[in-house]
Amino acid sequence: MQVARDIFGTIGEIGVHHGWFFAVLASCAKSCESLFACDIFGDGSLNIDRSGNGSLEHFLTNAANAGVNGRINVFDTSSVFLLEQYDLPPIRMLSIDGGHTQTLTYNDLLFASCVLSEGGVVFLDDFMNTGWRGVQRGFSAFLVYHYQGRLIPFSFYHVKLKSLKWPIKTESKLLFTTRGHVTSYQESLLRAFPKSSLVNSSVLRWAFEDRVNGEYIRSKFPLVHIML
Ligand SMILES: C[S@@+](CC[C@H](N)C(=O)[O-])C[C@H]1O[C@@H](n2cnc3c(N)ncnc32)[C@H](O)[C@@H]1O
Repeated sequence: MQVARDIFGTIGEIGVHHGWFFAVLASCAKSCESLFACDIFGDGSLNIDRSGNGSLEHFLTNAANAGVNGRINVFDTSSVFLLEQYDLPPIRMLSIDGGHTQTLTYNDLLFASCVLSEGGVVFLDDFMNTGWRGVQRGFSAFLVYHYQGRLIPFSFYHVKLKSLKWPIKTESKLLFTTRGHVTSYQESLLRAFPKSSLVNSSVLRWAFEDRVNGEYIRSKFPLVHIML
């Protein structure tokens, strides 16, 4: 969808761990596009919520297997320092899956809104994971303070995966883009996945419960595309 719209730029992830999702993202990159990976890797003192134990060595091995290791800009640091160090072109695809606290989620969404290219897409992981409520709180805080900003949630997907390691593993990601591209992405997704549905922001209402005692500012947000 992005290439058809001439949207190019950097592709990267905050919280790469061993690089499984990063490899998927990196496979979408054109040879002229930059890649970046931000993780605290082995530095447990910075991993305040114990959200996985990243490893630079495993990450680079997996990136080499995916054929992209020579091109990655590695930011071996907490994402709170990322904005001041970031020196790459604007981002067209960003996965946020680093620290899962409210503050770190808020920080990472703020980073995204500063560096996302027009029509870029952000994937916020674990949005519906009740084990990581900080993600929902960080998202809610972000929308409360930046509801007139450029980053707008436009789609949500929730899938159940079966694997040898986990009998059932659920994956849920909330997708954002810039304000002017919401409708065209939603229309394209509905064409590609006709069985999915457009609902009136019930996902956002759920995420707002803690923040505003059920007082949900319904009219300020666009429809959210739910892929079931
Ligand atoms: C759930 S894992 C990421 C999984 C990975 N995205 C994947 O799909 O395979 C979370 C990662 O975030 C990293 N992390 C934790 N706090 C961070 C922070 N403040 N800044 C950057 N990365 C952080 C951890 O080291 C860990 O590797």
